[in-house]
Amino acid sequence: MNNNIFSIKDTLLQKADKETMLGHKGVVLWMCGLSGSGKSTLARALENALYEKGIQTKLLDGDNLRSGINSNLSFTNEDRVENIRRAAEIAKLFVENGEVVICSLISPTQEIRDQAKNIVGVEDFREVYINASFEVCAQRDVKGLYKKAMAGEIKNFTGLDAPFEAPESPFLELNTGESSFEDCQIELVNKVLKEITL
Ligand code: ADX
Repeated sequence: MNNNIFSIKDTLLQKADKETMLGHKGVVLWMCGLSGSGKSTLARALENALYEKGIQTKLLDGDNLRSGINSNLSFTNEDRVENIRRAAEIAKLFVENGEVVICSLISPTQEIRDQAKNIVGVEDFREVYINASFEVCAQRDVKGLYKKAMAGEIKNFTGLDAPFEAPESPFLELNTGESSFEDCQIELVNKVLKEITL
């Protein structure tokens, strides 16, 4: 940080004050997994379910961030680190406001996810692993990216010529290749509701 910049608390209110006002805890649900594993679909379903219960949420999706604030970033490891750093900093702003922040990003390595956890703060960070094998995701290929990557048209594709390290002890793991979407959704929503109860 620049030596001439002094970080001050910009509000007299604490996270707990915001949580009391909203009636629930603020937490960051960091959903990681391969492209096509079901992260964004589950993230959106979770957000809808929480909305129905009057819970204040913010959804941060890798694809969307990459068409805005992160539009200058590629898929090299260095740029993915920066992508996650920015996403985590944004998540932190929202969680400090007492909101339930649903982050949906591949975040492929333990190092990258640890970086996010350190930025957000371990107290507020919950790692959710959306598990579906490379084969399952490649078969779904909703966006047609696996086909392109396997034809050599996309470089540094996660799971192919760029690594994906499964989390070792996530807060929650959902296997969308083995369980139905509905079952995964129910498990996710129930677990989150318990976690954010004041
Ligand atoms: S991350 O690795 O930096 O966390 P992020 O979640 O932001 O990735 O973006 C992933 C999305 O970018 C994928 O869902 C896919 O639509 C798209 N994408 C484009 N190129 C790649 C690539 N080389 N590897 C993985 N995803 C890619």
